[in-house]
Amino acid sequence: MEHIVLSGIKPTGQLQLGNYIGALRNFSKYQDENKVFIFIADLHALTLPIDPEVLYNNTRDIIAFYLACGLDPNKATIFLQSQVPAHAELGTILGNFAYMGEMSRMTQFKEKSSKLNEKSIGLGLFTYPVLMAADILLYNAETVPVGEDQKQHVELCRDLALRFNHRYGDIFTIPTPVISKVGARIMSLSDPTKKMSKSEPKGDIFLKDDLAVIRKKIMSAVTDMGSEVKYDKENKPGISNLLTIYSCLKDITIEEAEKEFVSYRYGDFKKAVADVVCDTIGRLQEKYNEILASGIIDEVIAKGAIEASKIANETVSRVKKAVGLYGTK
Ligand code: AMP
Ligand code: TRP
Repeated sequence: MEHIVLSGIKPTGQLQLGNYIGALRNFSKYQDENKVFIFIADLHALTLPIDPEVLYNNTRDIIAFYLACGLDPNKATIFLQSQVPAHAELGTILGNFAYMGEMSRMTQFKEKSSKLNEKSIGLGLFTYPVLMAADILLYNAETVPVGEDQKQHVELCRDLALRFNHRYGDIFTIPTPVISKVGARIMSLSDPTKKMSKSEPKGDIFLKDDLAVIRKKIMSAVTDMGSEVKYDKENKPGISNLLTIYSCLKDITIEEAEKEFVSYRYGDFKKAVADVVCDTIGRLQEKYNEILASGIIDEVIAKGAIEASKIANETVSRVKKAVGLYGTK
């Protein structure tokens, strides 16, 4: 059955392998059988200080990688959040239905704000999940594939939509977060107790890294005591992370990967992981370079903005009417 599927990525840094495994590689799988909206959450990138040029370049890069990963602008709507003003509009309206208490409990807000001086915590960082809820509700999304860390935000979106519907009738579709069982949390290679993240480059594999650098990073990945290649998150976080990466990229189960390496030493196992990672990223980089050279990015963005606006504006109009504002349609 066709579903409406939506997801997005914040252009705050260089894409890393965790983004690919936890998000990008799954997006194109949906597009043949569903109505798919994939966007860049560029307004969200402003919630922490970011250099304008870096933001601009990251945005282009992510569009190019979306296409390199197989997203097809003729099948999916690919767009920039900031080019569809309805996101800001719905975000403003929804803000009135979100409570300070529930917003203060958002793990990501607590984590990110704890690193800042209290006087310099932007309001946007606090209201971030409300804008994210608007992103989802505008397109009547049913399925929202995200990494584990975003589950709480999608749940807040559900709560807001239910609260709104309870008061105004059946306005919003209630979304469900979908988290892939394996690969939802790829860990850093230098500290496998920490998530691989585009904002903390140490121990990360970036999609734009030179292949020789990637190989080196994998070969020097932190491993664990013992010598068996076995999945054990508690006692062998490093090996478990590498097994996860390997099985995701090979599209096999962890158990199948374990069997494959039953008589391997860590060094040979790492070499096999490096081979598959370099093979995958090498192919992505080739396509990425072709896409940048073809100059189609602006066209894709313009097409996406028109398609997305049409649906998003319909939702905003419905919401405006429901709350007693003048809808435009
Ligand atoms: P972010 O880089 O936090 O903007 O995340 C973009 C998407 O990639 C979200 O769906 C994340 O949950 C996912 N993601 C980010 N880092 C990882 C990781 N280390 N492992 C798996 N998924 C990730
Ligand atoms: N908050 C998400 C992240 O940091 C990005 C995002 C913004 C998103 N809006 C969304 C993801 C809507 C899914 C649906 O990764």
